[in-house]
Amino acid sequence: MILITGGAGYIGSHTAINFLNAGYEVVIFDNLENGHIETVNVLKQIGKVHFIKGDLRNIQDIEDVFKNYDIDTVIHFAGFIQVEESVKNPSKYYRNNIIGSLNLFDSMVSNNVKKIVFSSTCAIYGEPVYTPLDENHPKKPINPYGKTKFMIEEILEDYDKAYDLKSIKLRYFNVAGADSQIRIGEWHEPETHLIPNILKSVFEKNNTFKIFGTDYNTPDGTCIRDYVNVGDMAMAHLQAYLYLKENMVSDVFNIGTENGVSVKEVFKIAEKITENHIDVEYEQRRSGDAAILYANAEKAKSILKWKSKKTIEDSIKTAYLWEKSRH
Ligand SMILES: NC(=O)c1ccc[n+]([C@@H]2O[C@H](COP(=O)([O-])OP(=O)(O)OC[C@H]3O[C@@H](n4cnc5c(N)ncnc54)[C@H](O)[C@@H]3O)[C@@H](O)[C@H]2O)c1
Repeated sequence: MILITGGAGYIGSHTAINFLNAGYEVVIFDNLENGHIETVNVLKQIGKVHFIKGDLRNIQDIEDVFKNYDIDTVIHFAGFIQVEESVKNPSKYYRNNIIGSLNLFDSMVSNNVKKIVFSSTCAIYGEPVYTPLDENHPKKPINPYGKTKFMIEEILEDYDKAYDLKSIKLRYFNVAGADSQIRIGEWHEPETHLIPNILKSVFEKNNTFKIFGTDYNTPDGTCIRDYVNVGDMAMAHLQAYLYLKENMVSDVFNIGTENGVSVKEVFKIAEKITENHIDVEYEQRRSGDAAILYANAEKAKSILKWKSKKTIEDSIKTAYLWEKSRH
């Protein structure tokens, strides 16, 4: 069985669909602090899903899972994800992301579970020294969220050396879009990501979309990011798992499209897809936003045989249909 921590959340639930479609039985472990039982109920209609409501900060909760289920591999998404909140309240992030992960890893070691795929992030690179970013780019995360992810990567390296726990760390770029059948989609409260916020402003007329910073050193002055479709991202986890199972080696991969798209470009594509004029307000830059972040994903292509397939238009379209279904 595959254990998915944080499987009631956005990326974990889309990944669960890929594993279920491939015939795996899945155990979802989530405290539902930011995940949704409605999402789990959709997954239960797709395949064999066991849901455990538990918190990684309580080691007994996760110990019980390993005692009660025959877990082969863990796909670890559970954690807090908001950069700005992590700056204001680092304790919340270190306690959940670091202590929660340590409890999970210790429990895996004591229960002889030796394979894990971990959700890392391009935020661990910090301010880019060069782009596109490859896996060897210096790691200098500039906020507590990114630091927790970098520390967890380092902990996993040490656990491999000492306890033979093998890990694949996937460094995600920006994840976007919804399930191709619109059964599930991005559902964060509050929502801090660009695409769902643009789309929300279509449905909520008092929710004007804001662009932070138009004076960056980019062709149109707005930030450039790399938007990977959530279905492609989910597939990266299945391929990482298969690679890990076959080779039993630890490694790290960027998961991105290798294409940079500016905020203004995303906004224009959203106007076209939604056939709506979207009001926008221009604000000052936010601190900590790098001008340009996009991936060199050659390593994932050559070793994992993973490649991004869907376009940003695909992601905005499914995200729009998902938002529409919720309004
Ligand atoms: N969304 C992105 O663009 C993006 C980019 C880079 C990395 N990531 C990483 O991917 C992972 C998933 O992101 P997401 O967007 O799906 O977030 P999400 O908030 O939708 O999902 C995280 C899930 O983890 C659960 N959780 C949190 N702490 C827990 C705990 N202590 N015990 C049990 N469950 C807990 C939450 O309830 C939630 O369901 C995160 O680790 C995030 O850092 C996301």
